[in-house]
Amino acid sequence: MLLNRLILIFAAAVQALPQPASASCRDVQIPITVSTTRFILSTSLKDDWDAAALSLNLTRRDFSKSSDPLPISGSTAAAVKSTYTVGATLCGNGGPTLILTHGIIESKLYWRPNFPGSEKYNFVDAAIAQGYSVLYYDRIGVGSSPKVNSFTDAQFQVEVAVLEGLVNYAKTKAHASKIALVGHSYGSYISSAAASHVAVDSLVLTGYSGTFDYFPPFIAGAGFRVAKLQNPARWGQLDSGYITSSDLYAETYVYYAAPYFERSVAEWTYNVASEPFAVGELPSLLATTVDYSAIKAPVLVLQGQFDVSACGGNCVGVVNGTKDIFTGAKVLEYVDNLPAG
Ligand SMILES: *[C@@H]1O[C@H](CO)[C@@H](O)[C@H](O)[C@H]1NC(C)=O
Ligand SMILES: *[C@@H]1O[C@H](CO)[C@@H](O)[C@H](O)[C@H]1NC(C)=O
Repeated sequence: MLLNRLILIFAAAVQALPQPASASCRDVQIPITVSTTRFILSTSLKDDWDAAALSLNLTRRDFSKSSDPLPISGSTAAAVKSTYTVGATLCGNGGPTLILTHGIIESKLYWRPNFPGSEKYNFVDAAIAQGYSVLYYDRIGVGSSPKVNSFTDAQFQVEVAVLEGLVNYAKTKAHASKIALVGHSYGSYISSAAASHVAVDSLVLTGYSGTFDYFPPFIAGAGFRVAKLQNPARWGQLDSGYITSSDLYAETYVYYAAPYFERSVAEWTYNVASEPFAVGELPSLLATTVDYSAIKAPVLVLQGQFDVSACGGNCVGVVNGTKDIFTGAKVLEYVDNLPAG
């Protein structure tokens, strides 16, 4: 009886806090050692003239065909071993655990926005409320993770190995009983590739359709700029291979579809949550073949209908193609028409 009363009082006290779920979250630094070959990039990026040239190269009509002019001249002969101390946030005490990987021009704040009134956009707190533990992190090169070399470290296969290391961390150090990988956009590719190498219990992909066909409007529309020149106060410490969007409206075009968003959210994203991505990331993704057939876990593809990079602005009639991609999955379900970008 007394115990019940105490629980009631305690619950009332907890509810009075602005963000109840934050109590169970803590920032963690997770050292991950990876050993993978590295692509050798043949592009250089010093200023916005180079960013414009790179944009043309990556959006050429004859790009992403078998003979495409990927700015890669080869690979290292041997695997390169590196240890990165990944900046992450861990919420909950284990059990069923979601591991979240954000996309490009984003950071881990994507999953847990912190502006006033952001509760309804807060995926992490919603997942915690449903009983999940959550591990979400900044990709190497982003936010609280180390500012790695944008050409030689921040490459797709390296980031896949980092995520595999985080899966191992969740199982061995964070008491995870089951693991779901949840990705957004570029993070969905990382999650898929990791799920093709290590056993997980499910895979949830957003900002993903399985085709690169619609990258050109995304790349051209974002208006790539060298991040350290674009905002020296915020990103002056990054090397010149880190890229961001040209302005708020370019970023809005690639991520939001009017009238299905609040402008204040786009502004917060641009001013606070967005972080540059590295020049090595997209070419190394395009040069890697993900073995989707090796993914056995159930897969959920969840799409805003009007996503630019995944679907060229309309996912209906595109996302249904994921049926032909995840041929080894126990179950594949997709939603292609949520009212969003
Ligand atoms: C773009 O492609 C041209 C022609 O292949 C090449 O000379 C140039 O270095 C590339 N520029 C960048 C920034 O990748
Ligand atoms: C997806 O839908 C489009 C448009 O209805 C259709 O042309 C295409 O064949 C479908 N693809 C698959 C794999 O079902």
